[in-house]
Amino acid sequence: MRVLFLNGPNLNMLGEREESLYGQLTLNEINDLIQKKADNMGIKVDFFQSNEEGKLVSRIQESSGKVDFIVINPAAFTHTSIAIRDALLAVQSKFVEVHLSNIFSREDFRQNSYVSSISLGVISGFGHEGYLMALDALSSLNK
Ligand code: DQA
Repeated sequence: MRVLFLNGPNLNMLGEREESLYGQLTLNEINDLIQKKADNMGIKVDFFQSNEEGKLVSRIQESSGKVDFIVINPAAFTHTSIAIRDALLAVQSKFVEVHLSNIFSREDFRQNSYVSSISLGVISGFGHEGYLMALDALSSLNK
C-alpha cells in the first residue's frame, strides 16, 4: 500500500505558526512520526508540501496510478480551491481530508470544504494525530 501525504499553504510553518491551534511540532517532525508508523505497518509513504495551488494540482495529477491513497490537508485551499477538488476527481483519487484544528468550531469561512464531499472521510481537530489516524483508517479499509 502506497500513501501520498499532501500539505497545503503555510503548513511549512508548523511549529512556529499559531501554536495553540496547530501544535508545536514542525512538519518535518510530523512527517518523521508518519514515516515511523508507516514503516511499522509496512506502508510506503511519500510527502509533498506546497504554498502554491498549481503545484498541489500537478502533484495530485502525477500521483495517478502511483499511489493507492492520498492524505491531504489542503489548509486554506480547503475553503477556496475548486482546482484541487477537480484534480482529485480527475485522477479518481481515494483520499482522506485531514485538518489539525477542528475547522467546524472556527470561523464561518472555514466551515465549507470543497473536498469533503468527495473524500473517503474527514479527520479534523486532533492535531498531528489526525495524520496517523488517517493511516490506521486507510490500512483498515485496504484489508
Ligand atoms: C487547517 C485549517 C485551515 O482552515 C487553515 O487555513 C489551515 C490549516 C488545519 O489543519 O487545521 O491552514 O487546514
